[in-house]
Amino acid sequence: MYSDKVMDHFQNPRNVGEIEDADGVGEVGNPTCGDIMKMYITVEDDVITDIKFKTFGCGAAIATSSITTEMVKGKTLDEAEELTNSEVAEALDGLPPEKMHCSNLAADALQNAINNYKGIEDDDVCTHCEDI
Ligand code: FES
Ligand code: FES
Repeated sequence: MYSDKVMDHFQNPRNVGEIEDADGVGEVGNPTCGDIMKMYITVEDDVITDIKFKTFGCGAAIATSSITTEMVKGKTLDEAEELTNSEVAEALDGLPPEKMHCSNLAADALQNAINNYKGIEDDDVCTHCEDI
């Protein structure tokens, strides 16, 4: 069901944990399954210099968060905001269609962390699945 890359990131997730003095923290819940994701970022000169995540989520949520943190570390906030969940799924050599919603969790938590850094209020409930 899962690619080798998904299994690798699920079994050895990168950047797990929390950043104590994070510049931005984002949390999001997924109403479809009830899972929760928290993302911490450190920002210097508009660049994400460090990022960590914690989740009560399924294997696909863990794998997508892990690779998302790798993909955006060292990127500017603008570049990070442009990352789509299909690019994340592609980097993992694909996700089963019924697991695509799990990848939104990382993207949303990251967006919320960036918004938190920018001082923008936002919703902590993911609504992607309402649009499907
Ligand atoms: Fe909840 Fe995947 S089933 S995040
Ligand atoms: Fe499904 Fe957010 S509600 S991914």
